[in-house]
Amino acid sequence: MSILSIVKAPDPILKKRSMPVDAVNDEIRRLMDDMLETMYAAPGIGLAAPQVAIHKRVIVVDASDRDSERSPLQIANPEIVKKSDDIASFDEGCLSFPDQYAEVERPARVWVRYIDYNNLPQEIEAEGLLSTCIQHEIDHLDGRLFVDHISMLKRNMILRKMTKLKKAGALT
Ligand code: NI
Repeated sequence: MSILSIVKAPDPILKKRSMPVDAVNDEIRRLMDDMLETMYAAPGIGLAAPQVAIHKRVIVVDASDRDSERSPLQIANPEIVKKSDDIASFDEGCLSFPDQYAEVERPARVWVRYIDYNNLPQEIEAEGLLSTCIQHEIDHLDGRLFVDHISMLKRNMILRKMTKLKKAGALT
């Protein structure tokens, strides 16, 4: 496994839509493993393939407590089949936006269909932090970022900060 370099915003790479994978084969499993290692090393609780400049519909998440055992999900072609009407709000961050956070509202629960590490179809019901995290990562696959859910004022503030940090060479 290897640690991949994470694309930092603003970057057109992050705005491009990702394509479904045909199957979870050895190549995709390797990508999933590398992404998981990259996510844990960052550290973060979710990562989408476009964040490592690969436009395939693959995400990895682990929203378990820092103190408990790891419970990673490696997901291909995720599809939200149902959302709850009730809304949850979390202070979200993103590995493509180091040190930037904003409150984002999303459906509290989602039902997601996907293909797993063994190329088998799965469906999960997610709530709490896991639900938010999966929705945030699926957004990445459609070129949508967490700052696209907040006010333009706040979004521009964060993007200006990111541009400044990039110019200063403060992001690797
Ligand atoms: Ni993100």
